[in-house]
Amino acid sequence: MLKNKKIGFIGGGNMAEAIIKGMLSSSLIKASNVFVSEPSKSRQTFLTSEYKIKVVKDNLDLVKKADVLIVAVKPQIINEVLIGIADQMDAKKLVISVAAGVPVSKIEEALSSGKKKKLSVVRTMPNTPAVVQEGVTAISPGKGVSKPDLKIAHEIFQAVGRTVEVPEAQIDAVTGLSGSGPAYIFMIIEALSDAGVKMGLSRDVATELTVQTVLGSAMLVRETGTSPGELKNRVTSPGGTTIAGLHALEKGSLRATLMNAVEKATLRSKELAD
Ligand SMILES: NC(=O)c1ccc[n+]([C@@H]2O[C@H](COP(=O)([O-])OP(=O)(O)OC[C@H]3O[C@@H](n4cnc5c(N)ncnc54)[C@H](OP(=O)(O)O)[C@@H]3O)[C@@H](O)[C@H]2O)c1
Repeated sequence: MLKNKKIGFIGGGNMAEAIIKGMLSSSLIKASNVFVSEPSKSRQTFLTSEYKIKVVKDNLDLVKKADVLIVAVKPQIINEVLIGIADQMDAKKLVISVAAGVPVSKIEEALSSGKKKKLSVVRTMPNTPAVVQEGVTAISPGKGVSKPDLKIAHEIFQAVGRTVEVPEAQIDAVTGLSGSGPAYIFMIIEALSDAGVKMGLSRDVATELTVQTVLGSAMLVRETGTSPGELKNRVTSPGGTTIAGLHALEKGSLRATLMNAVEKATLRSKELAD
């Protein structure tokens, strides 16, 4: 599907690079079909030498060349960037935005420049583990998106991890859970590692034990398809060590704290979008 399409990235920063790397390393697309428009000279040099992709002179040039446009600039400047390319936009091109907090309606409005246009716009919310191809991306298609275009969006983000599809109204909840989620997990990893050090382990050993425990437990949930509650019960013997640890977690309201974190981040995401 995607193989013969030309993909253009507006903005060649961290998220764009993660997607480019994922697509190329999974052979989803050839480097000669990837274009990027990026103002920073050092970044241009890096992207061309590292990935052999093509840098174009400006955003308009990029739009002319690409069948699929991935808009990967900061949310603060996206409106101005989209207005700048509106004249070259038509329904044949698929536009995929990774910008946090920018609704499909705003993207369509900026790309229409006052005219009635049928546009194919997909909004996505990836997360940072995309950099190591273990991200998860929520995909929300706008009204004008065809089934083949939607499939292309999934293909692109499956190159950097997994995808889910949600109605746009749920994107704030996605932001609160998987968008901000890596930071929650980093904090948990740091805390468990600190705990190991407190109990006399070296920092290296404590971090290694923690990271593999988090990774292995997540894999166990995924690969067995068993609920986390059931897996927890299976490692909790009567009067044993694990139930003693779990009791301490309950006393510290771990579950309520994590639910509060996702709720707060979701509400903040809504606030920022408004
Ligand atoms: N990083 C993440 O984990 C993550 C997760 C979810 C969503 N996102 C979204 O991804 C988008 C990009 O984030 P990022 O972390 O990749 O940011 P980033 O590293 O700052 O990348 C943005 C790039 O766009 C370039 N740029 C600025 N103005 C431009 C213009 N007019 N035309 C073309 N390119 C331009 C910037 O160049 P200069 O540096 O020279 O200005 C920079 O290289 C954001 O909208 C963010 O909300 C990121």
